[in-house]
Amino acid sequence: MKLELGVALGLAASLAAAQAPDKLVSGPGATLTENKCKICHELEHIRRTPLSRGEWADNLKNMRERGAPMTDEEMAVILDYLAAYYGRDPAPPAAPDTLAGGGDPVARLLDAHACSGCHTLDQRVVGPSFREVAQRYASDAGAAARLAAKVRSGGQGAWGQVPMPPAPALSDDELLTLIGWVLSRK
Ligand code: HEC
Ligand code: HEC
Repeated sequence: MKLELGVALGLAASLAAAQAPDKLVSGPGATLTENKCKICHELEHIRRTPLSRGEWADNLKNMRERGAPMTDEEMAVILDYLAAYYGRDPAPPAAPDTLAGGGDPVARLLDAHACSGCHTLDQRVVGPSFREVAQRYASDAGAAARLAAKVRSGGQGAWGQVPMPPAPALSDDELLTLIGWVLSRK
């Protein structure tokens, strides 16, 4: 838990410089959340504070007391969204334990960016399994930022001489989501 918080914060900080438009990670409920939360403040409040589901629930009640206009239904959608995409629970409720979770946002990203052609959760294919990556860096606080940079620009030498190609099309938010997910597979 502590590690994941550090990982998310470190990565968010290292990517902050490159972050231009004020948008949240796309997913079910993202637009509603943006619209409601931007009424009073920057979305940065959401990005820099990964909270557990329970903490997000408290935060949303607090925001409503401060005047955020949300029906109970809207609040439930926003809570699901924040807990899944800006949570620090060990595994978000929808996270797949295998990579075969078709509708899952992480699985979609892995497929869309061809990661799944070379990586699986538990077995080496062309690259290391995500489980062994998570285990290798379990107590390495700087790992998230380094891995994010490496996935974006590609590289070799950490696991062997086979190179990983660059993935320049990944947005910062997608990268954050993927690396956070990989590192929590330990
Ligand atoms: C009616 C105004 C208002 C709306 C709408 C609003 N907030 Fe806030 N929020 C505040 C105020 C006031 C603060 C405290 C002052 C500050 O830090 O800017 C705050 C602070 C926060 C913080 C920092 C932690 C804290 O408790 O100080 C988070 C996280 C947060 N808001 C999340 C949200 C989310 C998520 C939404 C959308 C569902 C939202 N806010 C919508 C007024 C609002
Ligand atoms: C064409 C095959 C290929 C694709 C596509 C690919 N990888 Fe890799 N990946 C590798 C190889 C090979 C390595 C080992 C590189 C090394 O030894 O440093 C690796 C290593 C990694 C590592 C560990 C890096 C380290 O330094 O320990 C992570 C994390 C990773 N990949 C994530 C991803 C993600 C996320 C994607 C999709 C955006 C992806 N990979 C796409 C082949 C691939």
